Amino acid sequence: MPGIINWNELWKATHIRGFRHHGEDLAAHWDRKAEAFNKRVMKHKERALEQVEAIGIAPNETVLDMGAGPGRLAIPLARIAKSVTALDQSEGMLSCLKENMQAEGISNINCIRKSWQDVTPDEIQVHDVVLSSNSLGVYDLKEALTKMDSLARRAVFIFTFTDGNRDDGFSQFLKGEKHSRDSVQPAGYLMIYNLLAEMGIYADVRIFDWESKEHYSSLDEAVASWKEMRDVPAEEEPKLREFLSARLTKDEQGLCMHRRSKQAMISWQKSPHTAA
Ligand SMILES: C[S@@+](CC[C@H](N)C(=O)[O-])C[C@H]1O[C@@H](n2cnc3c(N)ncnc32)[C@H](O)[C@@H]1O
Repeated sequence: MPGIINWNELWKATHIRGFRHHGEDLAAHWDRKAEAFNKRVMKHKERALEQVEAIGIAPNETVLDMGAGPGRLAIPLARIAKSVTALDQSEGMLSCLKENMQAEGISNINCIRKSWQDVTPDEIQVHDVVLSSNSLGVYDLKEALTKMDSLARRAVFIFTFTDGNRDDGFSQFLKGEKHSRDSVQPAGYLMIYNLLAEMGIYADVRIFDWESKEHYSSLDEAVASWKEMRDVPAEEEPKLREFLSARLTKDEQGLCMHRRSKQAMISWQKSPHTAA
């Protein structure tokens, strides 16, 4: 029963924009981004290993990775777990995942191209652990969380950034213009946490502090990469160039963007761990 704040309605109201990426649907959006995303994220292996360690998977367990993308977590998890089901609505992401599996000699990942909303419990069945990492592209959060909970035997893990402002201050730099993402709404992870409590699920929250460095060989390369990554329109390119030239520093590997972000891990246990 919703209290004074209806967290599911708040999620719908604040996330609707996320489903309309310049007129594309979400699957088409991620298809277009897949290759660049794959190249960018698969190199940050330490971060993935820290997440895998926090999940604490046992060799006899099965994992359902909802919105697995190119397998940043599915691949290291598959090295430990009995098997992984990698569900993603994007064909482009799943092709990257299959290439990565081949390159890394992994064969215990079963790929399913479906959205979380459309997949039926019969198609995936119950897994020991259900995971979603930055992949809650869903309009009805309550329905999505209920499905995650019902398909998990041992535990559910949700990773999500603590704020929506994932551009190192670029939107603030553009303040007042239409690209700005300034907002006063509660962070997404708080909506998830509170909605879970409303559903009678009292989750744990752990915050990770991530630090990373992105290197570019030139300012042009940095501008091109940010344009693609952030969908910066052509008319904002001069501002982007100005922003990046002020933010990038030189080191021995070229031009460097030093990034910091915080990520929440929301998790709940359904039954005790039964290590093999
Ligand atoms: C930012 S990537 C994250 C990939 C991976 N989980 C990771 O942590 O690196 C988001 C992925 O989630 C997928 N995704 C988002 N919402 C989804 C949904 N409702 N059903 C299936 N896949 C979804 C996208 O297609 C995309 O591949």
